Amino acid sequence: MSTVIAVLSGKGGTGKSTAAAALSCALSELGRSVVCVDADTELRNADLCLGLGDRALLDYGDVLEGRCSLEDALLPLPDFPRLRLLAAPPQRRPGSLEELIPQLEGQLDYCVVDCPGGLGDTVAEAACLAQRAIVVATADPCSHRDGERTAQLLRSALCPEGLLLINRVRPRQLKAMGITLDDSIDLIGLRLLGYVPEDERVPLALGAGRPLLAEDRRPRRGAAAAFRRIARRLDGQSVPLP
Ligand SMILES: Nc1ncnc2c1ncn2[C@@H]1O[C@H](COP(=O)(O)OP(=O)(O)OP(=O)(O)O)[C@@H](O)[C@H]1O
Ligand SMILES: [Mg+2]
Repeated sequence: MSTVIAVLSGKGGTGKSTAAAALSCALSELGRSVVCVDADTELRNADLCLGLGDRALLDYGDVLEGRCSLEDALLPLPDFPRLRLLAAPPQRRPGSLEELIPQLEGQLDYCVVDCPGGLGDTVAEAACLAQRAIVVATADPCSHRDGERTAQLLRSALCPEGLLLINRVRPRQLKAMGITLDDSIDLIGLRLLGYVPEDERVPLALGAGRPLLAEDRRPRRGAAAAFRRIARRLDGQSVPLP
C-alpha cells in the first residue's frame, strides 16, 4: 500500500511544484518507488520541475478516456529510475484523482500529488485521498493567512496528517520583517516538517531543464540538501532540523 502525499498551499507560487518534484526525486534516491502526479490541470509545471520539458505526450486524461493504459502514461525519469511522472491533462475532469490514485496505490511506496493553487475542488479531492498533506508556505502574512485556511480544509477533509514546509527562507529578510519561523508555525497551526532556503539553484535548474536534485548533489547546503533531509523525515527517519 502506498502513502499518498498531497502538496498544497492555498496561495499560488509558494513552491508546491518545486517541492513535489524535489521530494519525489529525494524519496526515489532513498530506494522508494514513487509516482509524482501533476494535479494542476490548467497550469501544469511538475514536468518542467522534473526536467522533462515537453516529453510528457500522454497524460491521465488519456488514461481515463481509454486512449492508453496507466502504465503507458507513466513517464520515467532518466536520472531517477524509481520515479515516474503522471502528467496532467489540459482540462480538469471531476473525480479524476479518485479514479486514478487507487489504481496506483498497490504498486508504489509513495504517490506525491502536486496540487494547483487555491482551495478548489481538485485540492479538496486530493486532501480527502491523501494520508499526508504538506502545506508549502512562505514566511509572510499572505501566505500565513492562506496556510491557515488550507490547514482548516485539511481538517474538514479528515486528512490524517497535515505538515508544514516553509519555503524560500531568507534569514536576513525575516529579521528585517520581525518574523520568526515559529510565528509561521503558530499562525498556520501545523507541525513543521522542515524549511527550505531561498536558493538561486532552483530557478537555474529549471532554466537548464534539469531536476534540481540531479543538478545539486551537495550534502549540506542549499535547497536540494533541505529537500533531501525533509524526504528522509517523511520516510520515517529521525533527522534534526534544518
Ligand atoms: N527555495 C527556492 N528558492 C528560489 N526559488 C524558488 C524556491 N522555491 C521555488 N522557487 C521559485 O518560485 C517560483 C514558483 O515555484 P513553483 O512553481 O514551485 O510554485 P507553485 O506553488 O507550484 O506555483 P503555482 O501555485 O502556480 O502552482 C518558481 O520560479 C521557482 O523556481
Ligand atoms: Mg505549481
